[in-house]
Formats: sequence, structure tokens, C-alpha cells
Amino acid sequence: MTPDEQNKALDAWQTSARYWDKYRVLIAQMFAPLTSGLVDEARIGTGQKVLDIGGGSGEPSLTISFIVGPTGSVMYTDPVAGMVEAAQAEAGRRGLTNIHFRQCSADDLPFADCTFDVAVGRLSAMFFVDPVTAVREALRVILEDGYVSFVVWGPREANPFFSTIPDVIDRFVEFPREDPDAPDAFRFAAPGKLAGILENAGAKNVIERQLNFQIEAAISFEQFWQMRTEMSETLREKMAGLAPDQLPTIKQAVADAARRYFVSGTMSFPAEALIVSGRKSAA
Ligand SMILES: C[S@@+](CC[C@H](N)C(=O)[O-])C[C@H]1O[C@@H](n2cnc3c(N)ncnc32)[C@H](O)[C@@H]1O
Repeated sequence: MTPDEQNKALDAWQTSARYWDKYRVLIAQMFAPLTSGLVDEARIGTGQKVLDIGGGSGEPSLTISFIVGPTGSVMYTDPVAGMVEAAQAEAGRRGLTNIHFRQCSADDLPFADCTFDVAVGRLSAMFFVDPVTAVREALRVILEDGYVSFVVWGPREANPFFSTIPDVIDRFVEFPREDPDAPDAFRFAAPGKLAGILENAGAKNVIERQLNFQIEAAISFEQFWQMRTEMSETLREKMAGLAPDQLPTIKQAVADAARRYFVSGTMSFPAEALIVSGRKSAA
């Protein structure tokens, strides 16, 4: 990524921050299985010092602060000011005192070597500027034998929560093909890709687990449409490129394609994620 592209990506996350804050309750509920998976894989427990990389509107930091308890602590990090402010405000509302906040990017962590027991990232690794450098940084700041764990989305076809709207839009408007290595939700969907990055960065005992779950919430199609088209930069961009008279047709086509995921007032999409973990070696 050129510096210009990096700034554009961070600006997009800054715009997204208000929507990630707006939908924080839904996000926490929909993606809770990802947090549980990370906590299990990274063996997070009472009293640990945990680093969260790319914590967005606050998860998994907020959940982990409860798990590690008063004898442990969480260091939330994210490079986007709006995300840090949103997460910090929520921790304040909950009266949490064992969680700390730093605005920083994954590839340049402002912490001394061996500061944390564990480092995790939920849905953030796909957006790292230089993933090998970022994993090396995560390994540097944890203790020997400590775990690094990242959860990322599996393939697009297995994640209709994300693909349903863009697939329909792409039938109506042609967009340039995206570079599979560019920062994007599905950048690490290919099995072994992120695991290879952990190995290149020097992690040992690298393990990749597939996590299948349902993205569920008691919301209507209308609420799903609004949430997705507000939260996603890619969709905001695609929607901005549509002619106003295309919108009702596209929305109806998405409603038809998504009908089977909305039953009796509940949304339930099948989803697939990969949890990739490794440990810091002595070398
Ligand atoms: C999809 S959101 C996930 C947020 C949160 N962890 C969650 O699961 O709800 C991705 C996050 O990665 C952050 N991010 C983008 N570039 C990053 C970088 N270079 N280093 C660390 N985080 C980054 C974004 O600001 C955003 O908050």
C-alpha cells in the first residue's frame, strides 16, 4: 500500500467508526462466537495481560477485560481516533478500570518487548498494512511461549452476511476486480495464507482452526440493509456509484436473495471464520 492508500484506508475507518459505535450492541451479539473462539485459542484466563490489536468499537477488549478480572488487564489498540474514542467511552460507561487505550498501528506497537502474556486481533489482521511486520511486532511484545491469535473471515461464498448485498450490486454495475492481497474482509480467507504469515514472522506451533457459526440477531431485513450499507466502506462506495433509480430494484433483489436468512423476525446467516494462532519461540 502506498502512503496515500494507507491514509485513505484510515479515513474510511474513521468514517466507519460512528457506525461501529451505533451498532455496537448488535456487533457484540453477532460476532460473540469469534471472541469466544479467540479466548479459547489464546488460552486467556484470570490475571493475564492481554493486547488487543485493532479493537474497533471495543471488542474483544471489553469482553476480555471481564475474563481477566481485576488482577489482569487489557491494552486496547487501534490506529483510528474515532474507534479509540468510541471504545474508551464504552469502557467508561461500564466503569471498567483494567482496560487501557493506545492509538497505534499493528506494525509499530509502542510497547516494550515481553510486556503482555497474549496478543489477539478480532477481524483486524486483514487490514494490517504489512501483516508479517505486524505479527512480528505482536510476538515481540508478548512473553516467551505466549500466544498470538487472530480471527479472520473464511471464504466469501461461506459468508452470505457479507456477500449477499455486493453480489446483487455487481449484477447491476461493473466494478474493477479487486486485488486479492489488498486489505479487505476476505484477504486471508484462503486456508494457510495467514498461517504462512505467522510462520514467516517467526511464530511456532502455528494452528489454523475453522469456525462455523450463525450470525444471529433479532432484526428485520430493513435493519440488516441499513446496518450493512452504513458500516461497510466498500458498500458505501458502491452505493454512491448507483443511479438513484437503480436503488429500489437492487434493494428488492437483495431482499429476495436474503429472504431465507430472515425467519419469524430473526436474522440468521451461516458464517465461516478462521482462527490462526501461534506461540512466541525462545529464539
Ligand atoms: C472490522 S474492524 C474490527 C474491529 C473489532 N476488532 C471488532 O471485531 O469489532 C477492523 C479494525 O481494524 C483496524 N485497523 C485498520 N488498520 C489497522 C492497522 N494497520 N493496525 C491495526 N488495526 C487496524 C480498524 O481501524 C478497525 O477498527
